[in-house]
Amino acid sequence: MATVLITGAARGLGLDFTRQYAAKGWKVHACARNPDALKGIAGDIHPHRLEVTDYEAVAALAKELSGEAIDVLICNAGIGGERGNTPLGAVDPAAWRQVFEVNALAPLMMAQAFVEHVARSAERKLIAISSILGSIANNAGGRYIYRASKTALNMEWSCLAKDLAPRGIVCVALHPGWVQTDMGGATATLTIDQSVPPMVDTIAALKPSDNGRYLQYDGTELPW
Ligand SMILES: NC(=O)c1ccc[n+]([C@@H]2O[C@H](COP(=O)([O-])OP(=O)(O)OC[C@H]3O[C@@H](n4cnc5c(N)ncnc54)[C@H](OP(=O)(O)O)[C@@H]3O)[C@@H](O)[C@H]2O)c1
Repeated sequence: MATVLITGAARGLGLDFTRQYAAKGWKVHACARNPDALKGIAGDIHPHRLEVTDYEAVAALAKELSGEAIDVLICNAGIGGERGNTPLGAVDPAAWRQVFEVNALAPLMMAQAFVEHVARSAERKLIAISSILGSIANNAGGRYIYRASKTALNMEWSCLAKDLAPRGIVCVALHPGWVQTDMGGATATLTIDQSVPPMVDTIAALKPSDNGRYLQYDGTELPW
């Protein structure tokens, strides 16, 4: 059976990714700052305590799992960082650094640490949970910090797609939709159940020719 590794697995979209893949019989490496929250979920779940910005811990986990094949790596952990729509004049440099570290640097460090595990798998998929708010082509302004962090993430995945294409690794940035999680809030248009199962189906359908695409949860192409 196939293996998936998910970051931010104990809450929101990451928790449902964990449930969905476990229900399909996959081996799930569920990485979370609070892995105790994963207790009681049925399936082949392997919880790992992981703060994604602790790069020594990321490297140690990659070493612990060396020799394993990871079919799908889902870099899901992320933060909003801003309360509402930060206007120009209120940009906080500390918030910028923190959001960029979690949303853009940490996923790249995960990809760097686990690329060999993915390369030796059958499916070979590197997934970034991005956002339509990272699109430059579809930009309504505002939310400077979060938007820019996801644009940076998109560029990283575009680079990974070019660099890893010769190894048959499919790199895709996925927008989950606006979803009712702690981050999305109660007024979001989609429930978790309307977002994560379609994302799992979209990931399952990815072919080598999809490498380098930016898609929303249901597989619809998004403008970079
Ligand atoms: N919800 C939406 O509408 C929406 C839309 C577009 C994109 N997204 C993206 O989807 C992803 C998941 O978001 P969500 O809606 O599920 O948000 P959420 O409910 O706020 O959950 C965020 C998850 O990320 C984890 N996380 C944050 N910082 C971390 C760190 N430094 N190390 C390890 N884990 C960390 C959290 O773990 P803790 O429990 O330990 O805090 C939590 O599991 C994010 O990348 C987000 O940007 C969400």
